[in-house]
Amino acid sequence: MKVGYKLPEITFHTRVRDETIGGPNPFRWLDVTTADYFAGKRAILFSLPGAFTPTCSTYQLPGFENGFADFAEHGIDAIYCMSVNDSFVMNKWAEAQGLKNVTVIPDGSGEFTRRMGMLVRKDNLGFGLRSWRYAAVVKDGEIEAWFEEPGLCDNHGEDPYGVSSPENVLSWLKDAAKGAAA
Ligand code: BEZ
Repeated sequence: MKVGYKLPEITFHTRVRDETIGGPNPFRWLDVTTADYFAGKRAILFSLPGAFTPTCSTYQLPGFENGFADFAEHGIDAIYCMSVNDSFVMNKWAEAQGLKNVTVIPDGSGEFTRRMGMLVRKDNLGFGLRSWRYAAVVKDGEIEAWFEEPGLCDNHGEDPYGVSSPENVLSWLKDAAKGAAA
């Protein structure tokens, strides 16, 4: 349970499109910090074992993307999808998913995930070090609510999915809003 923790301050190395570069590959590096993403916002961060993997691509990421209006109605300013993948892979996944509302964060080195205590081995699938699946509501860089899939361990055979689903996070936000109004 990580409620009340501050997110680790990390610099992420992202690739961004820059039309001034021209040519067939108009992208450059842009360093973006944890503070750049989270300062002054109430955000959802969800992290998963790999870009392009079936559950993440079919349920978790589209659920957060398509549900953005509902999340916004419940006080969410931004939704971030993280994976221990580099920015080239994360950008291609974002493009393939047609993302408009969710921003991908490439934790290529796994440093953020390690400092969150969520880095696990997935050598059983030839993935190397990856993120255990979790989600969090984060207010100005501090964890307000924590949704971690059960059974965190190395080389898990199934990668559980449910606690960190968009439906579950939205349900928590609705209950929290009701509680605040009572
Ligand atoms: C998934 O479907 O999300 C998944 C598949 C293999 C490894 C990890 C996750």
